[in-house]
Amino acid sequence: MYLTKEQEKMLNGEKGKVIEKMFRLLVRLGDIYGADQMIPIGSAQVSGVSFKSIGFPGLEFLEDIASKNPEVKVLTFLNPAGMDLEDWKKLNYPADFAKHQLRIIDAFKRMGIVITSTCTPYLAGNLPRFGEHLAWSESSAISFANSVIGARTNREGGPSALAAAICGLTPNYGLHLSEKRKAQVRVKVNASLKTFSDFGALGYLVGMEVKNKIPYFVGIKNASTDQLKALGAAMAASGAVALYHVEGITPEAKTMMREGLEQIEFGDKDLEDAYQKLNTGEKPDIVIFGCPHASLQEIGRLASELEGKKLKRPIWICTSRMMKEVANRMGYTDRIERAGGKVVADTCMVVAPIEKMGYKTTGVNSGKAACYLPGFCKQKVVFGSMSDLVEEQSK
Ligand code: F3S
Repeated sequence: MYLTKEQEKMLNGEKGKVIEKMFRLLVRLGDIYGADQMIPIGSAQVSGVSFKSIGFPGLEFLEDIASKNPEVKVLTFLNPAGMDLEDWKKLNYPADFAKHQLRIIDAFKRMGIVITSTCTPYLAGNLPRFGEHLAWSESSAISFANSVIGARTNREGGPSALAAAICGLTPNYGLHLSEKRKAQVRVKVNASLKTFSDFGALGYLVGMEVKNKIPYFVGIKNASTDQLKALGAAMAASGAVALYHVEGITPEAKTMMREGLEQIEFGDKDLEDAYQKLNTGEKPDIVIFGCPHASLQEIGRLASELEGKKLKRPIWICTSRMMKEVANRMGYTDRIERAGGKVVADTCMVVAPIEKMGYKTTGVNSGKAACYLPGFCKQKVVFGSMSDLVEEQSK
């Protein structure tokens, strides 16, 4: 791989030990994947933040790096942490867990990383532009940035995203290259998609089928930003889809289509089957919305759904700290709390230790959460629309 003089110095340790270690990791990745050079990135998003996911080895790794005082070179956001960083006591988090989680957050802060823990950075102050190169590492955020915005990022791991943030560079391969962004399979959608959960169910099916290929959707007539994030998140979870195109909707659909692709089709019956497969439980102990992290519209919608209701069992909606602040101002948080629900920031149902908080069955409207909850959190899942789940918790 071609390296500039400046980059040679980074590799030789002339810019300090941490830069050398981080840059070596990037060069190794670039060599493995055949990158021709390093390219500058506009921003980074680092996963591996929850103490539940990274444990003591991750905590010690991060504290060791932070102790050497590196500074990230680009705007860098964090993935959700294991808890609401402000309200964890009210939510009955174990104190030990909180102590370790706060040490992780402190290590990131010392590196100059913005302490906002969210998988929707594009809704919270880190919005890339079309064509911008990034190093993001949360799979739904990657899918959204690539597909809905038309920015360019590979599926980074936590360490490679951190290395890219500290060096301000990423190796030029994979989805950074136009020729690697072409559609690989045509997906004809005959199903009628109405709700956020319908898009999640479709994403679940398509991800299972196409694995890590790039799907090109036809037949989706309209989709909101929230519905696109649900679709991409589910495909990234049941498969490893990092980029998709939707005819007439996503920005690269016209230029990245190819003729003669294999075609798969999904109709209403397939969607019904997906709902059945994703439903493994009966009555939720808790319902958690906000996977990926809820937009203001979704929080507002929940506030309306809960109007005049008194919940029998809890509902949370997870979001970024920024979005929660606006929800507070709009009175949505009060309205949700009046009914017995909670707006939870910085974390989510998958990276929080909900299994240790006594919950065994979780209701969700997210295809991604429905995929992950059984494995990561030992949960049975009730998968449905927001309206149906609110109804269920009110009975
Ligand atoms: Fe985000 Fe957690 Fe879902 S990180 S995409 S809310 S599993």
